[in-house]
Amino acid sequence: MATEARETPEIGSSPAAGVSGDAWNQAIATRKTAEAPGARVPGAQASRLNMDASRRMFIRSSFFGGLGLALLGSVGFLLDFLYPRGVRGFGGPVPAGKVTDYARGGTPKHFADGQFWLANLDPAETRAGGAGGGAGLLALWHKCPHLGCTVPWRAEVNFAGDQGWYRCPCHGSTYTKAGIRVFGPAPRDMDTMAIEIDAAGNITVQTGTRSPGGPDNPKRAVTHPQLPT
Ligand code: FES
Repeated sequence: MATEARETPEIGSSPAAGVSGDAWNQAIATRKTAEAPGARVPGAQASRLNMDASRRMFIRSSFFGGLGLALLGSVGFLLDFLYPRGVRGFGGPVPAGKVTDYARGGTPKHFADGQFWLANLDPAETRAGGAGGGAGLLALWHKCPHLGCTVPWRAEVNFAGDQGWYRCPCHGSTYTKAGIRVFGPAPRDMDTMAIEIDAAGNITVQTGTRSPGGPDNPKRAVTHPQLPT
């Protein structure tokens, strides 16, 4: 049985020899690749197009969602790393013993790690370099308000006929036991730090909570029922 060979014309070429014009046009029409304007897309093809669009949307959403989560995680990790958790020493809470360790009117104690002096002021200590009427615990930042030198307590220093002062070794600024400036180039009195005392009498100095020194320094002293009087 003889098989009839059917020749398919090339698009854009001229009708081949032996192929009629109608056959040629019909062949071209069956090979169209774009729908005519207004033509309806067959159901199966429309469904496939919708699936393709949904897949692209899903991939795009997954990508940006994952990227957002990764960025969020990185920022969270960085904040967690930078958070000043468990700060000890200067800038954080520094334990300073119990209130019973501080005799009223006694010599100030130095805490180098917290950068402060702590003393139990005696309001009866009315000498020139004394408490200035303050009663209770007062924490003084040991940094001189002039140019930042560390200010020591100098029990042996005699100034203005009185003995026992804070005296800066750099330019001689001199302060009372309550941190009031009486001499020197310092622009103000010594700065103070916040004090917390729990029910058991344990002292914590909040070295990150500082107030510029002022004439009210003696009034900033903190009292406690167990503080020696
Ligand atoms: S730094 Fe203290 S007096 Fe100058």
